[in-house]
Amino acid sequence: MKKVKSVFVCQNCGFQSPKWAGRCPHCGEWSTMIEEIETSGTEDLSFPPAKPILYKDVRQAQQQRLQIKIGELNRVLGGGLVLGSLVLIGGEPGIGKSTLLLQVSRDFAEEGKKVLYVSSEESLEQTKMRGERLGIGKGELYLLAETNLEKIISHALELKPQVFILDSVQTVFSSSLSSSTGTISQVREVTNQVFRFAKKNNICSFLVGHITKEGSLAGPKSLEHMVDVVLYFEGERDHSHRILRAFKNRFGPVSEIAVFNMESTGLKAISNPSAFFLKERPEGESGSVAVCTIKGSRPLLAEIQALVSSTLFVGNPRRMTIGLDHYRTAMLLAVIEKKLGFGFGGQDVHMNVAGGLFIREPAADLGILAALVSCIKNKPVPLDLTLLGEIGLSGEVRSVSQTLARIKEAASLGFKSVVLPKGNLPELNKKSINNIDLIGVRNIKETVDVLF
Ligand code: TYD
Ligand code: MG
Repeated sequence: MKKVKSVFVCQNCGFQSPKWAGRCPHCGEWSTMIEEIETSGTEDLSFPPAKPILYKDVRQAQQQRLQIKIGELNRVLGGGLVLGSLVLIGGEPGIGKSTLLLQVSRDFAEEGKKVLYVSSEESLEQTKMRGERLGIGKGELYLLAETNLEKIISHALELKPQVFILDSVQTVFSSSLSSSTGTISQVREVTNQVFRFAKKNNICSFLVGHITKEGSLAGPKSLEHMVDVVLYFEGERDHSHRILRAFKNRFGPVSEIAVFNMESTGLKAISNPSAFFLKERPEGESGSVAVCTIKGSRPLLAEIQALVSSTLFVGNPRRMTIGLDHYRTAMLLAVIEKKLGFGFGGQDVHMNVAGGLFIREPAADLGILAALVSCIKNKPVPLDLTLLGEIGLSGEVRSVSQTLARIKEAASLGFKSVVLPKGNLPELNKKSINNIDLIGVRNIKETVDVLF
């Protein structure tokens, strides 16, 4: 095999050197020298040379997709697995990445497709042990335990599977680089080669990438721009449910989520996540509010909780948020102080979204406000009431998008009333929404009057 030459390139200034250095001799930055494969000019054998083409002559891409048996996974991918695409699945160790992909392999093999599952961190016996729990039966599912990427790819080229899975990117190495396994140069090179392999042979490929709590450097974050789809698997190890989130998708909407439950026979999709996230709402307690947020293409109800208590840190009270944007919450506290006259100066504020969800949308502002005020006044918000609306700095409630979808989701779960921006009412009156009261509000004062 031809030996590929590699160079160390400073990621800050572009300086090249045949040897590694802790500090770039050119710009003086530390830890920026990264090994890369030396390319001669711009030639790239995997794609034909490009030339300008008239817009109208460009053929529209016919995206062919494989349907995965796990419907929720199809939805997160934007309607199935695009042929020749490379999907990166990132998550902490033990979250269930290998389990999910082995289930996907099982289902494809049962449908008569040829699947190659490469495990570079577990032996064949370990993978088989997991497979037995998942009930892997008939079909052409091939396993390979190997860490050398070039060997893996040559096996894959010989076998010609329809689905190719590499678990994980941090534990294989390419022999064209001298850097050790798991370094940034290696994971990039591995990803790059798998990407070319997938595109050239039109094979659906999955890559697994580990992330640590500290956010490891050579982790999936540094690969996001190189792949077609990035999915993150999240959840607490102490809880059995897992959230799979689309972070990047060249073939579908992002921020789409799917919820799974880890059971003794693998991951089971939860088909009604709204009900799931609300099922443990406390009855008659203050500080808990249901909001309806949009995740990708689907509305999702979630519970926001607030706790306001006198602080031990006089002069510097705590502001803690889990699952909400910290700055947005701080801004809402300021608006509430200014416009409603509640003082948070001597109070710690803790906010939480139940179930490990993250809500970034401003449409949840009104829900955050309601949870806070409910806690301060020690008056519960009715269980069958939900709120949506963005709050501006003068305390005005601004309209939000996709109101109808949100209201319908709330109605389907038995909610009786929705507090929403007055600005959203005209578009809704025309459409029929039965059995649910729509209460329009213009500012936060009106909201508090309606609620309490
Ligand atoms: P795994 O898929 O190995 O995680 P990752 O590949 O992301 O590191 O998941 C391992 C965990 O899942 C482990 O703690 C055992 C648990 N598990 C089940 O609860 N049920 C099952 O059927 C399987 C296969 C695993
Ligand atoms: Mg694993």
